[in-house]
Amino acid sequence: MSSSTDSGWIDLRDRLIGNESFQRWASRSPLFGWIVRRQSRRLFDLVAGFSYTQVLYALVKLGVVDSLRSHSRSIPQLVALTGLTEERMRLLAKAGISLELLEWRSRDQLGLGLLGKVLAESEAIQSMVLHHADVYLDLADPVALLRDPNPQTRLRRYWAYASNGQHREGGLGIDDVGDYSELMAASQPLVAQQVLDAYDFSGHRHLLDIGGGLGRFAQAVAQAHPGLQLSVFDLPAVALAAEERLRGLGLSNRIACKGGDFFADRLPMGADIVSLVRVLYDHPDDRAQALLHRVADLLRQKGGGRLLIAEPMAQADGAPAMGDAYFGLYLLAMGGGRARAPAELGAMLMEAGFDTIRVIKTAIPVQTGLLVADISSDRS
Ligand SMILES: C[S@@+](CC[C@H](N)C(=O)[O-])C[C@H]1O[C@@H](n2cnc3c(N)ncnc32)[C@H](O)[C@@H]1O
Repeated sequence: MSSSTDSGWIDLRDRLIGNESFQRWASRSPLFGWIVRRQSRRLFDLVAGFSYTQVLYALVKLGVVDSLRSHSRSIPQLVALTGLTEERMRLLAKAGISLELLEWRSRDQLGLGLLGKVLAESEAIQSMVLHHADVYLDLADPVALLRDPNPQTRLRRYWAYASNGQHREGGLGIDDVGDYSELMAASQPLVAQQVLDAYDFSGHRHLLDIGGGLGRFAQAVAQAHPGLQLSVFDLPAVALAAEERLRGLGLSNRIACKGGDFFADRLPMGADIVSLVRVLYDHPDDRAQALLHRVADLLRQKGGGRLLIAEPMAQADGAPAMGDAYFGLYLLAMGGGRARAPAELGAMLMEAGFDTIRVIKTAIPVQTGLLVADISSDRS
């Protein structure tokens, strides 16, 4: 809510920005000139952002980022790699340099820039960049997407469960769930590292990761905490694939996998901590609330316990656009979930019966927010 002083200042600011003579004076003044140039650059970045994203995509898709990971290369070498003409390769290289993805190392030798190096070292970020080819096709007409009450998007087909596909006759098979499960497993290390750095699982005996996908989060926690017992619950086809994957890693004695629908089927008993990692934000409020009630019941039956929620959250420190702008549109195209602010999740947790709720700071909130909530034993 804005105070009358705030709205007085906002009126003045709007009048000045709308005044051409003020704008010209401000852009030439030493103090205001800096502010005007900074705001112009920010606005230009918003206007041009899609082109930047496409440069990033082309560099990953054509294998340029990967090929520069350990060596710098000449333009003719990159021409041979990409099949582009020399002129187009130079154009792409200049675009990449301007975005700090690439840099000249010596005359005609290209290497990775600061952002390019971070990207090259992260399979997780590269797989998200490639996935965005589909995301941006769905967002190509944002007005149509915003108007359509039931948009038939690529993301809806990709995230088969988001349209309640698990209730289809025979349920979802591996062909329906395989692609998103691989993407989640590839991007999970970014999240697991943030959670493990911020939360100590050593006081717990048994972690149940609900919606745990191919078990990549459970794997990371198991490897960091050798004494902890773990279970993963996910749709039957995903749980089967997780079981096979974890057996291959020699972890099946530590991590049990169970398949089912977390809205309807019995959840595995016995855990003193449950995690929902990138699960709640996929679902609209009524379904997310129903899932929290089910987790609360499960923990109460065993005499109380803790729930850990890790996912991108709205109003993240220093990254408000991630929750509201990026995930706002992404989750709309996917089918109706939303990124929630910690306070909104807190209210939903209280409604489900949790009593102590704590927000835990993570080092990179744009990758994941973190919240823990406790519940005591059955009150009846
Ligand atoms: C966005 S993915 C997150 C996977 C994993 N937690 C991670 O962060 O990598 C959501 C997971 O919830 C699972 N899921 C969605 N609806 C489900 C349901 N009704 N019952 C069980 N699992 C479900 C999906 O199969 C998927 O593995």
